[in-house]
Amino acid sequence: MTILVTGGAGFIGANFVLDWLAASSETVVNLDKLTYAGNLETLTSLQNNANHVFVRGDIGDLALVESLLQTHQPRAVVNFAAESHVDRSIHGPGEFIETNIMGTFRLLEAVRGYWSGLPQEEMHPRVKPENDKHLTQSSFRFLHVSTDEVYGSLSKDDPAFAETHRYEPNSPYSASKAASDHLVRAWHHTYGLPVLTTNCSNNYGPYHFPEKLIPLMIVNALAGKPLPVYGDGMQVRDWLYVKDHCSAIRRVLEAGRLGETYNVGGWNEKPNIEIVQTVCKLLDALRPKADGTHYSSQITYVTDRPGHDRRYAIDARKLEQELGWKPAETFESGIRKTVEWYLANPQWVSNVQSGAYRDWVQKQYAGADRKP
Ligand code: NAD
Ligand code: DAU
Repeated sequence: MTILVTGGAGFIGANFVLDWLAASSETVVNLDKLTYAGNLETLTSLQNNANHVFVRGDIGDLALVESLLQTHQPRAVVNFAAESHVDRSIHGPGEFIETNIMGTFRLLEAVRGYWSGLPQEEMHPRVKPENDKHLTQSSFRFLHVSTDEVYGSLSKDDPAFAETHRYEPNSPYSASKAASDHLVRAWHHTYGLPVLTTNCSNNYGPYHFPEKLIPLMIVNALAGKPLPVYGDGMQVRDWLYVKDHCSAIRRVLEAGRLGETYNVGGWNEKPNIEIVQTVCKLLDALRPKADGTHYSSQITYVTDRPGHDRRYAIDARKLEQELGWKPAETFESGIRKTVEWYLANPQWVSNVQSGAYRDWVQKQYAGADRKP
């Protein structure tokens, strides 16, 4: 059996692919455009793994996606591919509209065509014995990975976001993700496509691109640079270790009810400044500064992000109670693992930062169906 993963060279997608292939003998076809955020170095350990097929390409390339679906006959598509950084969406929303909305639309259309052509159990009550894949319209799944940011911002005493919370996206990024969620929902209600959607809180962990808060703070702290905290630093995010997000997606793929959305979160609400202080304290303990000062002395308050959402919080009870999912990491264990990972992998950081690795990849993997 095979699954098609999009955006599997990015932070969460790559963690998902690595975890999936460590536990399963199914083939993963990994479709990724390799934007600045996609990094094949993350997948180096899969170089000789015959179950990993990397394809460089765009989810919005209908012909490419159609041909991948026909060739590999996946039983599921898991869609991670997106432009993901809020600050970038403020400075240049175009790519977000193109990939997150138009790309998702074209991907849905390719998948709908493929799914329509799969055998229908209703019409063929006994699945054809010669069809050793046992792949039918009703067993196929399209899982769309989305964000809690579609729900907008909470004030201090509001209850956490449940799946029934209305959509109130505030940034170009969250508006584009909200639009993609609506398209996925519509493709289920109108065409019957068997979809699932997950809306997750802030992830952190290995292979996180150092433009996002936690990896940026680790990397800047070690480089002796300022640690830029937006506004008063009292914005609240709800943090989840990336491997726990991946386990939630696997669980929803396995047992989620069709057409449903599942909120994913770790019940770890924390103000940004507390996150930055925690990172600084861990670094003080694990890599003390030569001059004896604390990393927190590098904290610098800077101008706030325009339209900055004040608080996100996820109510994950539906996923926990209906599907029995629980995160494995506490924030304390997860953040320690994360800081340790960045300390152990300075080469990965310098490669993604320099862009040299990306330039090399551009030259090496210009075609499709190439392995990293
Ligand atoms: P990321 O930016 O690290 O990775 C995105 C990946 O998608 C990259 O490898 C990139 O090359 C690829 N990509 C971009 N445009 C593409 C296109 N048109 N076609 C094919 N590939 C393309 O993002 P991430 O943090 O790993 O997020 C993955 C998904 O999870 C996104 O949909 C995001 O909205 C969602 N999400 C992220 C978080 C988080 O905290 N990072 C939380 C909840 C949901
Ligand atoms: O909530 C889920 C979302 O979490 C995902 O959908 C997004 O893809 C992901 O990027 C993330 O969005 P945020 O905007 O919350 O993440 P970011 O790491 O950019 O910022 C986290 C918080 O830290 C936010 O309140 C802004 C603040 N911040 C961020 C940076 C980069 C700073 O104070 N300083 C910084 O330098």
